[in-house]
Amino acid sequence: MKVGVIGTGDVGKTLAGGFLKHGHEVMIGTRTPAGLAEWTAQNRPGRVGTVSEAAKFADLVVLAVKGTVALEALQAAGAANLADKPVIDATNPIADAPPVNGVLRYFTTLDDSLMERLQREFARARFVKAFNSVGNACMVNPQFKSGRPTMFICGNDDAAKKIVTGVLEQFGWETADMGKAEAARAIEPLCMLWCIPGFVRNDWRHAFKLLT
Ligand SMILES: NC(=O)c1ccc[n+]([C@@H]2O[C@H](COP(=O)([O-])OP(=O)(O)OC[C@H]3O[C@@H](n4cnc5c(N)ncnc54)[C@H](OP(=O)(O)O)[C@@H]3O)[C@@H](O)[C@H]2O)c1
Repeated sequence: MKVGVIGTGDVGKTLAGGFLKHGHEVMIGTRTPAGLAEWTAQNRPGRVGTVSEAAKFADLVVLAVKGTVALEALQAAGAANLADKPVIDATNPIADAPPVNGVLRYFTTLDDSLMERLQREFARARFVKAFNSVGNACMVNPQFKSGRPTMFICGNDDAAKKIVTGVLEQFGWETADMGKAEAARAIEPLCMLWCIPGFVRNDWRHAFKLLT
């Protein structure tokens, strides 16, 4: 697939590297392409472009920017460049406020998630929440003593979720599909839970597993 990654932080770079490792074509989109020279040199044949160039290039878009600027980044990508495409939404609605006893604060409510807001604004994009509930160091083919971890996903479009399930399989995850976009109200806060051992005990190496 042609994958356009929006965001050049730890998540954008890690997922871009994962897609390259698994043989996909990757363009990473940034507001400052000149600043990514080192990444390009170390990640051939990965390419760098503007945010809109990466979205236009993509069959599959990955959104990996700070939650507070997610809408702004998608506006820069351009609605036409996102239309009908699956968009992996790895963002979390973390507020610009410090955690309380290791518990992050969100700017959303339990009745309205960030992904639903993005889906409302960009109605033709096919958002799938994924990769938001684990740290970037464990995103690509992580090894855990307890076996394959579970990635909780959701989204309104079944075909888009099938594509993302295939990506998760390649990246060493089993997938638990929690249904439509509203399920992001439950999946986004998993990041709060995942981060608590990190903030409280500096333990960042874990992932969720759904037992049945
Ligand atoms: N860090 C983790 O381990 C982790 C794990 C799971 C989920 N997440 C979520 O994933 C998202 C990304 O996290 P992160 O830690 O990788 O990075 P981040 O520091 O939140 O930001 C990533 C990138 O966003 C881009 N950006 C900022 N404002 C933008 C705008 N207005 N338009 C377009 N791009 C913009 C910047 O790239 P340029 O300056 O190059 O444009 C920046 O490098 C967050 O929502 C986070 O909550 C993070």
